[in-house]
Amino acid sequence: MIIGIAAIAKNYAIGKNGKLPWHYSADLKFFKQTTSGNAVVMGFNTWKSIGKPLANRLNIVLSRFANIENQPTVLLMRSKDEVSALAKYLSCDLYVAGGAKTYENFSDVIEKWIVTEIPENVEDADTFMPANFLDGFEQKETIEFAADLRAKIYEKKVQS
Ligand SMILES: NC(=O)c1ccc[n+]([C@@H]2O[C@H](COP(=O)([O-])OP(=O)(O)OC[C@H]3O[C@@H](n4cnc5c(N)ncnc54)[C@H](OP(=O)(O)O)[C@@H]3O)[C@@H](O)[C@H]2O)c1
Repeated sequence: MIIGIAAIAKNYAIGKNGKLPWHYSADLKFFKQTTSGNAVVMGFNTWKSIGKPLANRLNIVLSRFANIENQPTVLLMRSKDEVSALAKYLSCDLYVAGGAKTYENFSDVIEKWIVTEIPENVEDADTFMPANFLDGFEQKETIEFAADLRAKIYEKKVQS
């Protein structure tokens, strides 16, 4: 399955100056637990911001032109089509882990969203999710993983 995973502020902010605009260790732990053992695709800006491969995951980094050093568990891919072709052969889930450009590029193939609700407005953020990104999805489940943090699971509505 292709699953979008994001932490989103009340005003849809997701990033600032190439980084996350907050630090919630419980959310980082939730992200790690959820995605471990699977494949994660991220845009080049997010790859730079993380700075190293995510452990116990296949890291797929998207960039049209940039190069990265060859290293175990990291695959550089040049287009969404390349990633989609690979995804057919994966026996694990593929998590789309951002940032905004990458979420937007994969929006038509994402079948499920896992969204951590950050209980803040980040007025000076520079990267946002579109407010309608969950159009066509319905909420299925809520996971409370810390006193002040929860993730909501959304699945694509079945067309009748
Ligand atoms: N809150 C969250 O859950 C969350 C999650 C992830 C990231 N973030 C934040 O989001 C911000 C980064 O987001 P962003 O939108 O600037 O960047 P991004 O999506 O991480 O990276 C964008 C770059 O990825 C490459 N790319 C994306 N789609 C591609 C495609 N279909 N084919 C080829 N290359 C593709 C391009 O690189 P080239 O220009 O090199 O071709 C593009 O410029 C940071 O602040 C980060 O911390 C937040």
